[in-house]
Amino acid sequence: MESRLTRLREAILRILLWPHVEAQFPIPCTRQEALDSRTCCPLWNGSPCGEMAGRGDCAQHFLEGADLPFDYRVDWPNSFYDKVCACYGNFDGFDCGVCSPGWQGPDCLEPHRVDRKEITDMTEDERELFISNLDHAKHTISNRYKILTSNDTTKAGNFKFHEATVYDLYVWLHYYAAKKYADTDDDAAHRGPAFPFWHRIFLLFIEREIRLLTGNHNFFIPYWDWTRTDHCNICTNDYFGAVDPDGHIDQGSRFSKWKVRSPSCSFLNASFLLLLKLRKPGKDRSADTLPTSGDVRRTLCEDNYDTPPFNKMSKHSFRSRLEGFDIPRDSRNLQSAMHNLVHDYFNGTMSHLPTAANDPLFMVHHSFVDK
Ligand SMILES: *[C@@H]1O[C@H](CO)[C@@H](O)[C@H](O)[C@H]1NC(C)=O
Ligand SMILES: *[C@@H]1O[C@H](CO)[C@@H](O)[C@H](O)[C@H]1NC(C)=O
Ligand SMILES: *[C@@H]1O[C@H](CO)[C@@H](O)[C@H](O)[C@H]1NC(C)=O
Repeated sequence: MESRLTRLREAILRILLWPHVEAQFPIPCTRQEALDSRTCCPLWNGSPCGEMAGRGDCAQHFLEGADLPFDYRVDWPNSFYDKVCACYGNFDGFDCGVCSPGWQGPDCLEPHRVDRKEITDMTEDERELFISNLDHAKHTISNRYKILTSNDTTKAGNFKFHEATVYDLYVWLHYYAAKKYADTDDDAAHRGPAFPFWHRIFLLFIEREIRLLTGNHNFFIPYWDWTRTDHCNICTNDYFGAVDPDGHIDQGSRFSKWKVRSPSCSFLNASFLLLLKLRKPGKDRSADTLPTSGDVRRTLCEDNYDTPPFNKMSKHSFRSRLEGFDIPRDSRNLQSAMHNLVHDYFNGTMSHLPTAANDPLFMVHHSFVDK
């Protein structure tokens, strides 16, 4: 157990330090020859990783002293490929074909600054554009990535690739990362030091995919400042949809039409579907209020970024406070706080780790956690 935790911590560190982690599978790398040659170096403008254009190169990557991973998500993507693109400078992406976040232009040398706004501060036009871009992402198959489905993440080779819409790709990434490592209560994205960073990169990932899809280069995910309100002020048809007493989204909202498609995706099974569109804000008595600005202030006053044992038991840890496991004794809700409390407050899709990202509220909530 101890060595497993150590390995887990090392793995998290590698995920944070590894510059070329790409989420799920670029479509060119799902082809049999890429899998057989264990090489994921897609062409950009005619050469692998844009080598001819000086954007990157197809590099052998290996980890010293790496033993067999106990889960193929660890040391990603080592279980699948020996060579992946290593991009130079501000070039980024699975083929070095895009710029790192914050950069733009043909050589990725021009700063690109986009300020995320509070969602209720957006103009009606800005909000409409945001929602229609999201809707487009929900209904368009990604031409860049496929998702990997497998019933057992400990066995390489036991997998299938599937098409997914751009938004469903994002839902799947969260579900996939949130699956527990065998014999632990941990995963790479939650209950540990990586929590804020994993979710930051996750938001940057979907912002990039939606920019590429829609051509709206300034697309951003607004944040929902839940300290400004004592209820879900964005559960209206102007925003994410009003709900009826059973938790179903009002027919007048386009989000009522959001479905999980299941093009032979085993992961989208019945219980996934059942939970999809439920939202009963404030109906869980153990989580019937949103965190306040006082809660945020107390979190920000925590000096230690994280503390042993670096999981949900950590005390006096900024990360654990923010995530919502380290609950002050005089708290209104004693089951959860901060980030977790907002999830629980919704008493539905948002409240379950595997399904949470299906509800677009997830994005604006995490954008505020990121802020
Ligand atoms: C995964 O699927 C295979 C083939 O259907 C089955 O034999 C195996 O038991 C499954 N494993 C798990 C962990 O469900
Ligand atoms: C369906 O999904 C749920 C939630 O992810 C999971 O607990 C359950 O085992 C899955 N059922 C099948 C038959 O795969
Ligand atoms: C919703 O709240 C009820 C009452 O507190 C609780 O029993 C139930 O588990 C919650 N459901 C979800 C999905 O969070």
